[in-house]
This record gives sequence, C-alpha cells and structure tokens, in this order.
Amino acid sequence: MMLWTDRQGRFSPIKTAALVLAVTPAIVIAYWFFTGALLPLSIKNALHLVGDWAIRFLVLTLALTPLQRIFNYPKIALVRRMMGVTAFAYAFTHFILYIVNVKYDLAFVASEIIHRFYLTIGFVALLGLSALAATSFDSAVRKLGARWKTLHRIVYGLAVLGLFHYYLQSKIDVTSATLMAGLFLLAMTVRVMVAKRIGLTPLYLVLAALVGGLLTAAVEFAWYGLATGIPPNKILLANLSVGFGLRPAVIVLLVGLGVAAIAAFKNYKPALKLNRQSASQ
Ligand code: HEM
Repeated sequence: MMLWTDRQGRFSPIKTAALVLAVTPAIVIAYWFFTGALLPLSIKNALHLVGDWAIRFLVLTLALTPLQRIFNYPKIALVRRMMGVTAFAYAFTHFILYIVNVKYDLAFVASEIIHRFYLTIGFVALLGLSALAATSFDSAVRKLGARWKTLHRIVYGLAVLGLFHYYLQSKIDVTSATLMAGLFLLAMTVRVMVAKRIGLTPLYLVLAALVGGLLTAAVEFAWYGLATGIPPNKILLANLSVGFGLRPAVIVLLVGLGVAAIAAFKNYKPALKLNRQSASQ
C-alpha cells in the first residue's frame, strides 16, 4: 500500500491530502532554514517551529476519531495512522534539532533531560510516541492483538505530557499552548460523549463547544493563578473582550460551534433531498 492509496491500491484523495499536509510544514521550515529566514538562531528557531507542528499533529490525530463520528465519515480512519506517525516524526526531528543546537554534546543532553523538568517531561512524551510509532505497522497490530489497543491508549497521556512541556517552556505567555490544550479538551469532550453514548446531535455539539470553551478558560485561569504572578482574573475577563484579540477559550468555542454548524448542515441535506424527491412525485 502506497502512502496515497487505500488498501485496495486505489488512489485515495484523503490520504493524498494528509500526505501533503504532513510534509508541507517540513518543506517550508527547511526552505526558511536554508534561505537564512530563521537567522540568527536558525537551529533554535527551527526547533521551536518543528515542536509547534509536533503538538499540532498530535492534537489533530486525537481529533480525527471525534470528527469521524460527528460527520459519520469512515474514510477519516485511513489517515489516523499517518497523522500519528507524522506527529512522532516532527517530535523526533525536534529532539534531533535540540541535540544539534547543543553541538552534539550528548552528555550535556542527558544531564539537561535529567535536571530540567520540562525536558524530562518532553523526553517521556517522546519515548511514548516512539513506542507507538514502532508498533504502528500492520504486522505489529496483528502480533499484539488486543494489547495493541491498550498500548495505543497511552496516546492521550502522551498528549497531556506534550502540552505540559509546551506550557512549561512558554514562560509568561501561554496563549498558543492554551489554544492547543483547548482543542485537545474539545476533542476529549466529544470522545467522552461517545463513550457515554450521548448522541452527537447538533444541539449536543453546541453544548460540547461550550464545555470545551469553559474548560480552556479554566485551564488558562489555573495556569496563570498557580504558575505565574499574573492575576488570573484579568486573563479570565479578557475572554469577554475582543480588544485583546480572540482568546484561546473563544477560539475553541468558535471551532466547536463551527463543527456543530457543519454537522447540522450535513444532517439537513438528506432531508432536503427527500423533500425535493417527494415534491417531484
Ligand atoms: C527529548 C524530548 C524533547 C526535548 C529535548 C525538547 C526540547 C525543547 C526545547 C529546548 C524547547 C525550547 C525551549 C526554550 O527555548 O526555552 C522546546 C519547545 C517545545 N517543544 Fe520540545 N522537546 C522534547 C519533546 C517534545 C515533544 C514530544 C513535543 C510534542 C509532542 C514537544 C513540543 C514542543 C513545543 C510545542 C515547544 C514550543 C515551541 C515554541 O516555542 O513555539 N517537545 N522543546
């Protein structure tokens, strides 16, 4: 099976789109790197950009099953493995760039990973992602049987570790980390609904969007309250104003509402078609 074909060997538009999505950030970052756009700290800047994409692909991977359920679109399952392996590839490259940035001093790398908490967390997340990538092949799925599913459930914990690593290294401004955490929480809200057999109707999806937005605001409030000297109330109130730009909680709410609106539109289509059919009879 090629990266752009399905199991029957037919060209798959969704897999091709996923492949293009997977390689585009790498090509753009490499282009910036080699044309000097990331100077003067090219490696460090590349390390940051690649880290951003590692977490984005990880959150996207976890959002795919909820999206598959919401839109009742089984073909999404075809790209989940590719997106997960892509997240690992970016995380691994991020680690390699870290090693290059410290001039291949592996003893220093080991000491930093042991002594700096945010690097320890990142390292554990990377180890976990390596285990998942190494067992993502068909042969490993067959060999591990039911244990494969159990093993791959750790991906949720790994995403939490990746996000924690993102927060810890963000210093004062955790806006981007909170946006990623919020989208993860939105996806998890829908997953919990599926597990509890709550129907993914547009109304419940609107509720999920509200829950996702509130959880995002709560995480941001808790982080500023516990980890920084910035008054968390002010950050919470900023969610109610667009003067500070759209805050992560508002973006998560809008993404959730957007998904609910598309789901509602999709559900209406067959009804419209039926009405048209009965009108023509
Ligand atoms: C051994 C494993 C890892 C090491 C050594 C590492 C190292 C680093 C370093 C040095 C930074 C920049 C900190 C600074 O400039 O102050 C960073 C940032 C970051 N890392 Fe990692 N990391 C690791 C694993 C991961 C993993 C597994 C992920 C995601 C799944 C990840 C995502 C990120 C993100 C999103 C940033 C922030 C990038 C930005 O500033 O925009 N890292 N990491």
